[in-house]
Amino acid sequence: MSIESESDLQGLKESGRIVALALQEMIRHLKPGITTLELDLIGEAFLTKHGARSAPRMAYNFPGGTCISINDEAAHGIPGDRVVQAGDLVNLDVSADLNGYVADTGATMGVPPVSPTKDKLLKCTKAALNKAIATAQAGRPMNVIGHAVEVEAKRCKFSIIANLAGHGVGRSIHEDPREVLNYYDPRDRRKLTEGMVITIEPFLSTGATYVLEDRDGWTLKTPDGSLSCQYEHTIVITKGKPVIITAA
Ligand code: CO
Ligand code: CO
Repeated sequence: MSIESESDLQGLKESGRIVALALQEMIRHLKPGITTLELDLIGEAFLTKHGARSAPRMAYNFPGGTCISINDEAAHGIPGDRVVQAGDLVNLDVSADLNGYVADTGATMGVPPVSPTKDKLLKCTKAALNKAIATAQAGRPMNVIGHAVEVEAKRCKFSIIANLAGHGVGRSIHEDPREVLNYYDPRDRRKLTEGMVITIEPFLSTGATYVLEDRDGWTLKTPDGSLSCQYEHTIVITKGKPVIITAA
């Protein structure tokens, strides 16, 4: 969506606050021994309590309230009986509709103790998100986002999972612009415009440059077992710094 009024901005901010707090609530309970289903129920109960509904469940009939993806799983992991282990990288992705406004956020957490490589992957991906957000401004080409992600990934010597991208959001989970690329494409002539609502969500890995769908029909995994990490915010493009909608 594009923000056209103060009430649109307020509605989106309220949705963003609830998904951010749901994510925090899940992070608070993340520890070895918990199952991904238990984590998901905590997240979805929080959404329900605040009048919000899981966006992937609404839009795609996703078999969970949130997406939980571990280690070589990058995205769309189905909550279930998998038990979180010490050393795991656990990606929690929360997207919900509150009063017709949809926000989307995600974070990858290392369950201590994590190896230096895992720790570096987490820090580098978070830095890539923050640098990409800092470049996003009305009037600039959309590919400044992918450029910022690419520079950071190269600096850290990690790979970009190129077939996962950010996207337009706001009224439903996936809207135009369909693909906010995580790499620099010089042929991409699209521009960022004032009021545009998008997610930025870099996916970096310790090797893989793409993911494949698992036999479960949902989970997106690296083909070689390499580790994936994602952080995601929903933002509104302005003439200055973007408004980060999903900062708690
Ligand atoms: Co998401
Ligand atoms: Co997203």
